[in-house]
Amino acid sequence: MDKILVLDFGGQYNQLIARRVREQRVFAEVRGYDKITLAEIVAAGYAGIIFTGGPNSVYEESAPHFDPAILDAGIPILGICYGCQLLAWMGGGEIRSAGNISEYGKVELLPCAPGDPLLRDVPETSVCWMSHTDYVSTPPTGFSVTARTRSCPCAAFSDPARRLYGVQFHPEVTHTEYGAQILRNFLFSVCACAGDWSMGDYCQRAIAELREKIGSGRVLLALSGGVDSSVCAALLAEAVGSQLTCVFVDHGLMRKDEGDEVERAFAKWDLDFVRVNAVERFLTRLHGVEEPERKRKIIGEEFIRVFEEEGRKIGQVDFLAQGTIYPDVIESGLGAGAVIKSHHNVGGLPDAVEFREIVEPLRLLFKDEVRQLGRELGLPEYLVMRQPFPGPGLAIRVLGEVTEDKLAILREADAIFREEMAASGQERCASQYFAVLTGCRSVGVMGDARTYGWTIALRSVTTDDFMTADWSRIPYETLEKASSRITNEVPTITRVVYDITSKPPATVEWE
Ligand code: XMP
Repeated sequence: MDKILVLDFGGQYNQLIARRVREQRVFAEVRGYDKITLAEIVAAGYAGIIFTGGPNSVYEESAPHFDPAILDAGIPILGICYGCQLLAWMGGGEIRSAGNISEYGKVELLPCAPGDPLLRDVPETSVCWMSHTDYVSTPPTGFSVTARTRSCPCAAFSDPARRLYGVQFHPEVTHTEYGAQILRNFLFSVCACAGDWSMGDYCQRAIAELREKIGSGRVLLALSGGVDSSVCAALLAEAVGSQLTCVFVDHGLMRKDEGDEVERAFAKWDLDFVRVNAVERFLTRLHGVEEPERKRKIIGEEFIRVFEEEGRKIGQVDFLAQGTIYPDVIESGLGAGAVIKSHHNVGGLPDAVEFREIVEPLRLLFKDEVRQLGRELGLPEYLVMRQPFPGPGLAIRVLGEVTEDKLAILREADAIFREEMAASGQERCASQYFAVLTGCRSVGVMGDARTYGWTIALRSVTTDDFMTADWSRIPYETLEKASSRITNEVPTITRVVYDITSKPPATVEWE
């Protein structure tokens, strides 16, 4: 299998570059520039390397650099933005910083070297996307300029003999009209990749590797019903089904019918599926607790406790499996951000379960690739396409104290909203949508009588990464239908409001 290394110098698009390469059916992995040595790169047999962008200037003392001997390792390199400047700097070229040639946004790209392998089939003028102040003023010996823009004298350069290429612009963003063509040229013409990486192959290889690694050992997996842990379970089930125990902790904080759906999806495999009914113990521990962070902590702790108890019942476990996916793994150059909410994932490691090793079979995959793998393994579409659902479940969507009654009300309203989103085709446009039971009661009128019931808030957001999110512009008709059905079908609800706050300043969840 051909592999491309995306060497990360702190750019914001490092994951996107890897995605774009994988879209061409070539496997790509991202490594921090300081997490891999030249010897390791050579030993790994990469077909090519892409240097990412980054926030630094190559002459800064703290700027990330790499061993210049990489230029003579015989491996094709494509430097993007900072990566392009670094490539020039390593080769003895000159970089300048000049405010008057800063380019941000869409810029006209003007190739000037017909026949250059990297820019093959890129027309005389097209749009590229730039974001830089520094630029390569003098390319290193052996390199020639292959494209310019009106303000940048070196928008691309190359040394085809050594298979070294640099582009000042970002071919990985869709605003660069011929970005995909340029990446294809690099992968197939320069690196001679075969483009034969497919999810079916990946699936078969992963199954074979899991069998070899696990041998006759016992595997334990905490199954939350979310996409990642479900696909992880399905992969392990296919590989070592009879040696797998999936512990599904039913904390009673799931959406309507969710627990049964998860259980049904795994019925076809011969595995030990343990559904632990822990509803009462979670609700007992949450009794009287109103503070969101306290609720999150309690749920996280209780989850681990239940899981540990089940682990002890099972006895000797050799492997603990986790549904960690690639974005969780990539080492980013950025420092740790402030804790806004303490996220609870079922991946939290229990101390009392003894195991030899952790297996994380999805650690190389992006979210949509995980979904694709799920389909490959025959998981139902509703599970594979499930929107993200927080570990603490509906407990952080019932504001204030969580009770069984409130959960039941929220479940009904949420199910109606989801049905209406699906019926109107809006589910494809929104990244996540749900209902929240606000702690607020208000006066209404039904028939001729006064009512005093709960206020439900509907929330729908669109986002790429959930770090920022915009509220969805759902058609009034969909909102009207949902509102009318909720107030008619869920007796204690008298009012429905729609949340029109983006993140920031709000978060996606209300607690
Ligand atoms: P926030 O509310 O932080 O949510 O803007 C961003 C995304 O994260 C999900 N979320 C969680 N996921 N455990 C999780 O696994 C958690 O504790 C948790 N809290 C929020 C939220 O649903 C949204 O997709």
